[in-house]
Amino acid sequence: MQSNNADQTWEIRMPIERLSRRDFGRIFAVAAVSRSMPAIAVQRAADEWAAVRSEFILDPKFIVMNAANFCPATRNVSEVLFKYTRDMDANPSQQSRAKFSQGREETRKKIAAFLNVTPEEIVITRNTSEGNNLVSSGIELKPGDEVVVHDENHPTNLTSWQNKAKRYGFTVKSVAIPTPPPSVEALVKPFVDALTSKTKVLSFTHVTSTFGSQFPAKELCRIARERGILSLVDGAQSFGALDLDLKDIGCDFFTSSSHKWLMGPKEAGILYIRGDAQSKLWPSNYGVYGGTVGASRTFEQLGQRDDPTFMAMAEAVDFHLRIGKKKIEAQSKALAAAVKTELMKIPGLHMYSPAAPEISSAVVTFRPGSTDISKMAASLYEKIGFAGATRGGDTPISTTVSSRWKKSWRQFPTT
Ligand SMILES: Cc1ncc(COP(=O)(O)O)c(C=O)c1O
Repeated sequence: MQSNNADQTWEIRMPIERLSRRDFGRIFAVAAVSRSMPAIAVQRAADEWAAVRSEFILDPKFIVMNAANFCPATRNVSEVLFKYTRDMDANPSQQSRAKFSQGREETRKKIAAFLNVTPEEIVITRNTSEGNNLVSSGIELKPGDEVVVHDENHPTNLTSWQNKAKRYGFTVKSVAIPTPPPSVEALVKPFVDALTSKTKVLSFTHVTSTFGSQFPAKELCRIARERGILSLVDGAQSFGALDLDLKDIGCDFFTSSSHKWLMGPKEAGILYIRGDAQSKLWPSNYGVYGGTVGASRTFEQLGQRDDPTFMAMAEAVDFHLRIGKKKIEAQSKALAAAVKTELMKIPGLHMYSPAAPEISSAVVTFRPGSTDISKMAASLYEKIGFAGATRGGDTPISTTVSSRWKKSWRQFPTT
């Protein structure tokens, strides 16, 4: 099955090796819980995660393997969204709709607490793309100024800078990161080497959707701050995936989407603008109906919104708080680590994702030998409901708490 993800266009050319369909079937038969755990603990953990999965309306015939692109929302999130959508259409009065303005602010408070920042620093956007572009359009840059990014940034955080540089005359330096990165140091040094007295912005992806490398955000933001450089962290793959504390990370800007690891409603996202960075950003949109506090007054000027979305976002945050941020991070990563371990046993398979746990995430990318990956994905979709993605010649697999394995997949496919 082909993904309709725009990321597919990131063609990556790497050596082609061999992988049999039998091998591929084995990967998806991998056990998701640690083999070193006692049987009772294993069973308890399995029951607990089965209970969590029962909170999703996800059809059990599908296996979620493309979390980096889209994570299905929980039943509660969908129900809140539907409930308030019906409510808005049933009663369009100002009196009834007042609850949406209030709801938006409640959601802002919840998201701020979730990320350990203040509501005044949170803008509810439509997605990461919008947040990244609000930042690259809003910082005043001129000829002679430099912006440092890396090659694996998403286009909304790479080509967006490059195109704006053409208009405003600043320079963009894109550093190369080794694939797979061997260590934390390998993720830091290329940036340090690229920074100069002219650098005004350091913009990097917290967890890459290309190969799932987790960048040491706190360290990179500290390095930027010490040099008077503004930092933008693209958190499309970390908001809801990692146990985040933005105050501790110390970035100036952080962007993300609700429909990914937060498992929230679609077309909603966040832009965090640190209090003392707000005066350094020009708004891109001017209009009415902004938020009511801090940065949201000026940066949330996006006209009439899908108000029920705000209510559903709050529900998604509640889900994370109830299960636990740390536990969700650990489970998503454990599932991906189990997939990686199995994949690494396959002779000739090319692994692009890092091996070191401290820079690994729930995204695992590999090239499965000479197998035609589109055909393989189509076959996996038909036979085991593999809801994954293909991208050029490689395969990113990303697992979230609604992902799971079934015993019956052990039989798949042996021919
Ligand atoms: C790192 C990164 N940044 C930005 C985006 C864009 O996200 P959205 O389409 O939700 O705006 C993606 C999408 O996968 C991504 O992986």
